[in-house]
Amino acid sequence: MTRILAIETSCDETAAAVVVDGRIILSNTVASQEKLHAQYGGIFPEMASRQHILTINKIVEEALKRAHLDLGDMDAIAVTQGPGLSGSLVIGINMAKGLALASGKPLLGINHLEGHLYSPWLYRAEEDPTPEPEFPVCLLIVSGGHTELVLMRDHLTYERLGSTLDDAAGEAFDKVARLLDIGYPGGPAIQQVAEDGDPSAIRFPRAWMRGTWDFSFSGLKTDVLRQVRDYEARGEALPVADFAASFQAAVVEVLVLKTLAAAEQYGAKSIVVAGGVSANKSLREAFQMRSPIPVHVPPFFLCTDNAAMIGSAAYFRFQAGQLSDLDLDALPNWPLNEI
Ligand code: KG4
Ligand code: ZN
Repeated sequence: MTRILAIETSCDETAAAVVVDGRIILSNTVASQEKLHAQYGGIFPEMASRQHILTINKIVEEALKRAHLDLGDMDAIAVTQGPGLSGSLVIGINMAKGLALASGKPLLGINHLEGHLYSPWLYRAEEDPTPEPEFPVCLLIVSGGHTELVLMRDHLTYERLGSTLDDAAGEAFDKVARLLDIGYPGGPAIQQVAEDGDPSAIRFPRAWMRGTWDFSFSGLKTDVLRQVRDYEARGEALPVADFAASFQAAVVEVLVLKTLAAAEQYGAKSIVVAGGVSANKSLREAFQMRSPIPVHVPPFFLCTDNAAMIGSAAYFRFQAGQLSDLDLDALPNWPLNEI
């Protein structure tokens, strides 16, 4: 049995977790800064790192306490090394280095995206094990900072098929929510408002980027802005729910159809969808309805940033003997295919 204490501070969540054998969550504590950043409609990096400093000790202590274990019971310490905000990453990294040094346990620097894609492997200790995704896996990572389509033929091996050429999917949700003035973070806000809207009410463009596995969402965002302005110019009230529903449908359609096409072309046996946007109900339903192969989506509490997913990826790295040095440094722009 391998127990890993994992720490995640790449963006605006301060998180720690204890994970057994890469799959079983003994504890998973998260302090979200969402309320703080919501006041400003976005994340201010300096405020985020200050908040990490204030909460990290307590979060790590709490993770060990809830797992009913001590630092000495751990087999390794894992931490998100990147990508993310450098000032935020460093807080988690320094904490992990200190713990590794104090306990003499090995240290593992983990890629945040690798963490996200391992999230469907996890389940809570008190629950039944979930089925493991079968290789080759076609992966869609959709978060606030990334939109990546990746082929995973086995553990720890990634072939990047495509990614967004401009805005990430989550970023598009956040920006359009701001345009529609419905709150932050934009994803959950749009999902909720869209429930009362008609997804076919407004025609929005779909960027298929044919011949590639890439995505593009900036044209869609610009078209939303243009159509909002048209309503304003005509002095008409904006049908906000229809806008939200139609925008969401446009994003979901492209994400789902391109992922399914890639899965078919590469003979994938399963699909994994991970990252903050994988919490989107409409996206999850579309995948379940249209996919001929099993689609693994993390439970809601593992869709957004957390440390359990870092502990899962770290386990497979630990098994492969890929430990980090104690002088590891933050990699704010670390792409998945360069691990
Ligand atoms: O993975 P994550 O927590 O942080 C990053 O690593 O970026 O993803 C955050 C993103 C935000 O853009 C947020 O608007 C989006 O995930 N998101 C959603 C939903 N919940 C969160 N987007 C669409 N629908 C949701 N239900
Ligand atoms: Zn993330």
